[in-house]
Amino acid sequence: MNQMPCNQTPAWVALQAAFETAGQSFDLRTAFASDAGRFQSFSLSAPHVFADLSKNLIDAATEQLLFELARQTGVERHRDAMFAGAAINRTEGRAVMHWLLRQPRSKPAGAGADDTPALPANELAKVHATLDAMLVFAEAVRGDPSITDVVNIGIGGSDLGPQMAVLALDDYALPGKRFHFVSNVDGHELAAVLRRLQPESTLFLIASKTFTTIETMTNAHSARAWFEAQGGTDVARHFVALTTNVTAAGAFGITTTFGFWDWVGGRYSVWSAIGLPLAIAIGSAGFRDFLAGAHDMDQHFRTAPLQRNLPVRLGLLDIWYRNFHGFGSRSIAPYHSALRRLPAYLQQLEMESNGKRVNDQGAALAYATSPVLWGEPGTNGQHAYFQMLHQGTDVVPVEFVAVRKPKHSLPGHHALLLANVLAQAQALMLGKADAGGHRHFPGNRPSTFLLLDELTPISLGALIALQEHRVFVSGSLWGINSFDQWGVELGKVLAKDIEPRLQSGDVTGLDGSTAGLLHRLRG
Ligand code: F6P
Repeated sequence: MNQMPCNQTPAWVALQAAFETAGQSFDLRTAFASDAGRFQSFSLSAPHVFADLSKNLIDAATEQLLFELARQTGVERHRDAMFAGAAINRTEGRAVMHWLLRQPRSKPAGAGADDTPALPANELAKVHATLDAMLVFAEAVRGDPSITDVVNIGIGGSDLGPQMAVLALDDYALPGKRFHFVSNVDGHELAAVLRRLQPESTLFLIASKTFTTIETMTNAHSARAWFEAQGGTDVARHFVALTTNVTAAGAFGITTTFGFWDWVGGRYSVWSAIGLPLAIAIGSAGFRDFLAGAHDMDQHFRTAPLQRNLPVRLGLLDIWYRNFHGFGSRSIAPYHSALRRLPAYLQQLEMESNGKRVNDQGAALAYATSPVLWGEPGTNGQHAYFQMLHQGTDVVPVEFVAVRKPKHSLPGHHALLLANVLAQAQALMLGKADAGGHRHFPGNRPSTFLLLDELTPISLGALIALQEHRVFVSGSLWGINSFDQWGVELGKVLAKDIEPRLQSGDVTGLDGSTAGLLHRLRG
């Protein structure tokens, strides 16, 4: 959508001045010392997620300028266009409606706050018809004791979302079913899974939006060949497709297909049929809760004023850090071992969405976009890379995710876990000035603290939708198309060219390094 480039707005200029006069020398310790209400004014509750933003390098005046920046770049207009079903994915000519996947079937009469536009009503009917069918199927699998293993074959958005969510909600999973996720074209991965399976007790879910992705197709064909070689007979019963390309799934020999639509981006697809592994794991009621939590966050994002809007505030903070402080990365530290795939999931969400160097009309940008996102669960990360966070030369904003109530009853563990997450955030901020040299901690290192009361299908749905929308906010403000991924194409094309050369040894036209390596690989 045409908008004024963010770096040409008056707010951007004002932010630059604010950074130079106060922003770059902002000190968190001074800010807390001079404002007893800082925690109150920089924390807020969104549906199912509480956020403390007070340990960030930000003051109220800067936030006001960031809100101005959002207004001047039309972020709210862009958001409303997405929720109205406009084709905001311009380079692919598509609407962006993953939010519709979690829209309730019908609104309660007179529901004031839920004024979602009725525009895609027809689409909503299709969404619910597919959801109902998929959940009936999920329940049938749950009730079928002969199926003990569910293997999801997919990659990128067709892997990371369901894998992250199945792990995260393991406490809600039906006992007696094992879930496996095969994504890599590296045959070691599939072989290691197949070793543990029997064809008659295995259900393969072939998850691919396009049903053309080479890794997934290669794994799917190998899985079917294994199935038949092991005496498996009923491919139609043991293979299910989750795809927008129903024709290609049929050509593969799959008769049970749950579809979705081109207006669902791969990395936004966990809410669609791609979520089937999660639905099998936690059941239809759990899956509907997952959708409901996300819908609550959609409503918050659509309707809360900018000042009380958590995705907006996180997205604007991301801009402040990336474009004014110049921070190149953000670390995500979930203090819950079940959230161990959350960093990988968020990497795709943010870096595939916003790792762009041109605006949505193809013109080069004069400012930085997506930071590098990375992380590991706490407390593990503390014993690995937190050294660099505390004493390295780069400042890396950290996003902690903590959960108040545990689902286990082992004494002592949870208090220790929570003490650690609080201590890390505190240590990053306070530092330790009374020692020199190796023992000195500079402090003033920013962090955000996201808190869930419990890790449930509802709160996980809300947390993921929160992250989707914060990525939307920064992408929109930068004027980029967050919903395409042309940058993954070149490598795919080159791999196609190289593969036969590994057989033939033909290095004609290759650069010296690729040719040299190809020779060595041929042995
Ligand atoms: O190559 C990148 C990508 O297109 C991702 O955007 C997507 O999530 C993944 O590949 C898998 O695509 P598909 O679901 O079509 O197999």
